[in-house]
Amino acid sequence: MRTFVITGGTDGIGKALARSYLERGDEVAIIGRNAEKGAAFLDTAARLGAGDRAHFVLADLSLIGETRKAIAEIRTKLSKVDALVLCARFFRSTRSVTAEGFESNFALCYLNRFVLSYEMTDLLDAADTPVILNIAGPGSDGEIRWHDLGFADGYDGSAALAQSGPLNDLLGVGFTANAASRRVNYVLFHPGLVSTGFAGEYDAEMSTRVEALRASGKPVEQAIVPILAVLDEPPREPLSAFVTGTPISLDGPGFDQAAAARLHTRTTHLLANAAANNDKRSNLNRQEY
Ligand SMILES: NC(=O)c1ccc[n+]([C@@H]2O[C@H](COP(=O)([O-])OP(=O)(O)OC[C@H]3O[C@@H](n4cnc5c(N)ncnc54)[C@H](OP(=O)(O)O)[C@@H]3O)[C@@H](O)[C@H]2O)c1
Repeated sequence: MRTFVITGGTDGIGKALARSYLERGDEVAIIGRNAEKGAAFLDTAARLGAGDRAHFVLADLSLIGETRKAIAEIRTKLSKVDALVLCARFFRSTRSVTAEGFESNFALCYLNRFVLSYEMTDLLDAADTPVILNIAGPGSDGEIRWHDLGFADGYDGSAALAQSGPLNDLLGVGFTANAASRRVNYVLFHPGLVSTGFAGEYDAEMSTRVEALRASGKPVEQAIVPILAVLDEPPREPLSAFVTGTPISLDGPGFDQAAAARLHTRTTHLLANAAANNDKRSNLNRQEY
């Protein structure tokens, strides 16, 4: 029996993957911020006779603190993780900043994936052929705004979300280059256009565009077929990238080692500053009491 941890497992591609693995007899933990959807997942598992193999961990993954609490909870439930599948995302037409001070797209679609990738390696290392599958947009032409990663200046929701594609490409490159684990292979996967919930808060114009995307995307059941195939036999290379099941070259500028090292350094500083600010906040709170 394999063990899967799936973010964004309450809807769309993540939900369909979670159900498939429960049906196959695997153990599945999903992490999500919606308790009702979590309960529905556990009900479905019980109906499938898989109640003892299903776990729901409640967390807002746009917050680093909640992400770390979720990892701690996963540790109480699982002693190994065969596959960590990263699917959580949320679109915002209007810029929003998390309580920890990060722009929401950056926090949910990149920082969260960085923390989960690096801080669960021991659980992954305990599995036979561990893999991290980061479902984003490898090889896309989204740009990284190095001078303004959080789009403080001239926010554009589509560009902010698109930036998570190249950021996650560099996360994969950095994870492999840093030998965060010598056993965990990292897979970047672009599913193509899929008709899912497209979780988000949309203005009128974007709402119309999203309706059109939902109408033209392929069904989720079809989209997960190549994802299941990759997870059934994870590539042997430490890093690989796929677009709708077809491997793509890692030679392009989007997979540059120096850029990956630069992003890794920036990210670790951002996380360290966030932790220090958090400590300051808790000290202030303590003083108030
Ligand atoms: N669909 C496509 O056409 C497409 C194309 C390219 C890449 N992708 C990538 O594929 C992955 C899955 O996409 P999808 O279309 O299946 O997504 P989706 O249907 O929009 O579902 C997004 C999931 O993320 C969860 N989520 C949102 N904010 C969260 C938060 N703060 N904390 C925890 N969970 C949160 C949602 O939870 P709730 O259930 O609570 O809303 C939901 O389960 C994403 O990484 C996306 O970038 C998708």
